Amino acid sequence: MKAKICIVEDQFIESKSLKVILTNAGYSTTSIARSVATALSIIEEEKPDLVLVDIFLQGEGTGIDLGHILNAKNMAFVYLSANSNRQILEAAKSTRPYGFMVKPFRAKDVLIMLDVALYLHKQRLAEMAPDAGLAKTGPVVLPPEFSHLIGKSQKFMETLEQAKMVGTRDTSVLILGESGTGKEMIAQTIHKVSTRRYKPFVVVNCSTLPATLIESDLFGHEKGSYTGALARREGKFEMADGGTIFLDEIGELPLELQVKFLRVLQEREIEPIGGKPRKINVRVLAATNKDLEEEVAAGRFRIDLYYRLNVFPLVMPPLRERAEDIPLLANYFLKKYSEDEGRKVPVLSQNAINKLMQYNWPGNIRELENTIQRNIVLLNGSVIENIDIPVSRKNLNVPDNNKNGFKTMIENERDHILAVLESCHWKISGKGGAAEILDINANTLNSRIKKLGIKRN
Ligand SMILES: Nc1ncnc2c1ncn2[C@@H]1O[C@H](COP(=O)(O)OP(=O)(O)OP(=O)(O)O)[C@@H](O)[C@H]1O
Ligand SMILES: [Mg+2]
Repeated sequence: MKAKICIVEDQFIESKSLKVILTNAGYSTTSIARSVATALSIIEEEKPDLVLVDIFLQGEGTGIDLGHILNAKNMAFVYLSANSNRQILEAAKSTRPYGFMVKPFRAKDVLIMLDVALYLHKQRLAEMAPDAGLAKTGPVVLPPEFSHLIGKSQKFMETLEQAKMVGTRDTSVLILGESGTGKEMIAQTIHKVSTRRYKPFVVVNCSTLPATLIESDLFGHEKGSYTGALARREGKFEMADGGTIFLDEIGELPLELQVKFLRVLQEREIEPIGGKPRKINVRVLAATNKDLEEEVAAGRFRIDLYYRLNVFPLVMPPLRERAEDIPLLANYFLKKYSEDEGRKVPVLSQNAINKLMQYNWPGNIRELENTIQRNIVLLNGSVIENIDIPVSRKNLNVPDNNKNGFKTMIENERDHILAVLESCHWKISGKGGAAEILDINANTLNSRIKKLGIKRN
């Protein structure tokens, strides 16, 4: 049985056409609501699984007021609106919707957004259930395309399950996670399980290209469109036509290109420099290790683009949150790199394993991989007794010589938090706790501690 949807929309024609789209796709619908008040009584009586909310409605109250109520009631909803100015989008964001689609929309996009929203809501409810974690659904069954991804911790398996789910749906995915957590690897895997798997997978790194070249790199240019454009150049989007484009470090995309990129996502067409717009069919996967919400708040990332990309956020857990996978990964890299060098696979001593598990891995899997590789080179014999972890500068309190002895703001913040934590014996909340001394919320402090990789020794 497909879900029951409530349409809240003041325009008669639009609500009717939405109803047709939903019914054709097998959803059932409740009566149509044109105001917040009728929406609330329909929701009460007809109990829909998800609500589609327009912003401007008849009578008192807007869709955003309704969004706040639905959020408080833990109900699934998405916005569908022609009004997408920044203030509205900001206000809508604070109600925690599962999506915001700007009109005019394609039926296919609405259906994908609904499908994803219903799935994410189910996940959210399962996480909130009192026995969450205990009586989780059975073991995760993954297709063979996932077999090269090492790890079996619950956290990692949940991420893979989400990747499997979203892989086969033709939607954008925003892959979030610290550096070295496997963002690119999961992007490739998503492509491999999708219907686009026999078409290209094209990678673009938005941070390594100079801003002046990104436009031509992404969208291409015609011959003679600017000095130096000696021949026509095919852009990355065109190369990926029919397949998937992976935009790595999307948080680094300059603002002026964000507008052009948004247009690609909305209109599904590109405009090469000096050329005519042309239709393309690509799936966009994007990744960042930045906090995009912070970037949006600071005005460095467009909120409309954020909504477009954030249809399905996939968070790659940091290695320290899946410590039980460390020995598995370490042994995997040990085998891989010693075989590459044609030598016998060495054994990790218990002492070495303990050391690996206690370290907090700010560079995540990539750092673990490099560490293992280095230790193989250094090894004489067949047992790694004492593993050598090159502690990255991030983890030390020493200033970097390259910066004339100055610490970065992040290093400073880290040291400051660490000093306060030591002074109050790592008490975080409550009277005399670090949060009180620092005058910040305990949850905020906890997330800073996590983010900065601060650990009690
Ligand atoms: N689950 C895994 N199993 C085995 N190897 C992995 C796994 N995840 C990541 N790796 C390896 O770790 C390294 C880092 O992965 P990847 O490049 O995908 O990370 P990333 O998040 O894109 O990193 P960055 O933010 O630095 O670009 C790669 O060499 C990759 O092969
Ligand atoms: Mg990467």
